Amino acid sequence: MSKEASSAGTPANNTFTLTDNRSGKAYTLPVLKGTLGPDVVDVRKFYGETDCFTFDPGFTSTGSCESKITFIDGDQGVLLHRGYSIDELAEHSDFMEVCYLLLNGELPNRAEKYEFEHIITHHSMVHEQLTFFYRGFRRDAHPMSILCGVTGAMAAFYGDSLDITDPHQRLIASHRLIAKMPTIAAMAYKYSVGQPFVYPRNDLKYAENFLAMTFAVPSEPYHVNPVVAKAMDRLFILHADHEQNASTSTVRLAGSSGANPYACIAAGIASLWGPAHGGANEAALNMLREIGTPDKIPHYIARAKDKNDPFRLMGFGHRVYKNYDPRATVMQKTVREVFDALKVTDPLFDTALELEHIALNDPYFVDKKLCPNVDFYSGIILSAIGFPTTMFTVLFALARTVGWVAQWNEMISDPNQKIGRPRQLYTGPTERDYVEMGKR
Ligand code: CMC
Repeated sequence: MSKEASSAGTPANNTFTLTDNRSGKAYTLPVLKGTLGPDVVDVRKFYGETDCFTFDPGFTSTGSCESKITFIDGDQGVLLHRGYSIDELAEHSDFMEVCYLLLNGELPNRAEKYEFEHIITHHSMVHEQLTFFYRGFRRDAHPMSILCGVTGAMAAFYGDSLDITDPHQRLIASHRLIAKMPTIAAMAYKYSVGQPFVYPRNDLKYAENFLAMTFAVPSEPYHVNPVVAKAMDRLFILHADHEQNASTSTVRLAGSSGANPYACIAAGIASLWGPAHGGANEAALNMLREIGTPDKIPHYIARAKDKNDPFRLMGFGHRVYKNYDPRATVMQKTVREVFDALKVTDPLFDTALELEHIALNDPYFVDKKLCPNVDFYSGIILSAIGFPTTMFTVLFALARTVGWVAQWNEMISDPNQKIGRPRQLYTGPTERDYVEMGKR
C-alpha cells in the first residue's frame, strides 16, 4: 500500500488518501483536528471498507480516544492540564485545586474549592473492616501489591457506588478513591514497618494528612514540616495526570467493559508498577545508589549504550518527551528546596546531576533524544523526606488516582463509548486436526 496525504488537517481538504496497491483501489479517510497536537486519521471504518486492520503494537502512532483533559507536546516539553501549564500549576496552585480542575474542567472558585476539599477530607477514613484485610498480607509484602489488592477490595466495601450508569454513584466513587488513597497508602507503609495505623485528621490538608498518617505514631505529637508538605503537594501535582500512558489506558480499557471503578483503578495501579512506567522512580534511586559516586558514571553510561546489556538509565527517556520533561525541571528545583528546608544534602543528588550532564552531552542520548524524566529526581526528594524506595511508586499511584478517575469518568460519560477491543496480526498455525494423546 502506498499512502498520500492530501493536505491532512487543513480545513479546506481534511482527508487522507490511501491506495491499496494490491487492488489499485484508493480509500479516502477523514482527518480529525484537535485543538492542539497532530491531526488524526480516522480509521474507525477502515476495516469495514478495506478488509484490513491497521497494525500498531505499542500505540506509537495511534490515538486511542478523544480527550479534553491533558495535552502533551513532547518536542516542546509542554504539559497542559485543561489548558493550564504544569509549571504554572506547580508554582501557583495546590493539589486539591488541580484535582478539581482535572475532574471538572475549570479551576474552582473559592466556594467550590472549599466544598471540594470538605468532601475529600470527610471521605478519607476507610471502612474499619478494611483495616483487617491488611493482616492477610505478609509483613514484607511490597506496598504496591498491598495497594493494588486493597484498592480492588474497595468494591467489596462500597457497594453503593458500583453502578457506573448512575452519575451520582460515579461521583461518590471518584471522591472516595481520591480521598481514601492516601489512607490506604499510609496504612500499607505502617503495616510494612509494624506500626499501628494512624487515622486521618480533618484539620490537616491533603498532603499534610498523608504525611501524618505515614510518619506519626500514637505515642507522641507529630508536627508537619510546611516545606515538606509543600514539596509533597507539588509532587502530587506533577504526577496527577499524563494523558493516555500505560496505566491510564489500562484504566480506560478495564472500564470500557463496564467494570466497577475500584477494579479499574486497581488495574491502573498494577500497570503503573512496572519499571518502564511508575516503577522507574524506585528503580532510578536504586540505580543511583548502585552507581554511588560520580567516578563510576562512565561505566554505567557504557552499559546503558551496550545493546547486549539489558541495563538502561532509569529515570531517562520517554515515549512522548523528546526534548525535556517539564516535570523533571520542577522536580530538580524542588530537591534543592527540600534540602535547604531540612538542612540535609545527599551525595546521590550530585551523582544524579553529573549523570544528567554526562548523558545530555553523549551522542547516544542526544541522538535518541533521551532526557531525564519525572522519575529521575523524585526519588531523591522522597528519600530525603524519609520514604523507603518501596513507597515511591505508591506515592505516584496516590497522585495519579485523580487522573485515572478523571479519564475513566470522561470515557463513561461519552455517549459514543464502546468496549475497547483491539484486533491482531495472527501469525500462529492455520487450522489443523486434533492429535490424540497417543499419537503426539
Ligand atoms: N537508557 C538507555 N537507552 C535507552 C533508554 C534508557 N533509559 N531509554 C530508551 N533507550 C534507547 C532504546 O534502547 C532504544 O534504542 P534503539 O532505538 O537503538 O533500539 C531507543 O532509546 C528508543 O527506546 P524505546 O524503548 O524504543 O522507547 P519507548 O518510547 O518504547 O520507551 C521508555 C520509553 C520510558 C519506556 C524508555 O525510555 C525507558 O525504558 N526508560 C527507562 C525507564 C523510565 O525511566 N521510565 C519512566 C518513564 S516517565 C514516568 C512515567 O510516565 O511512568
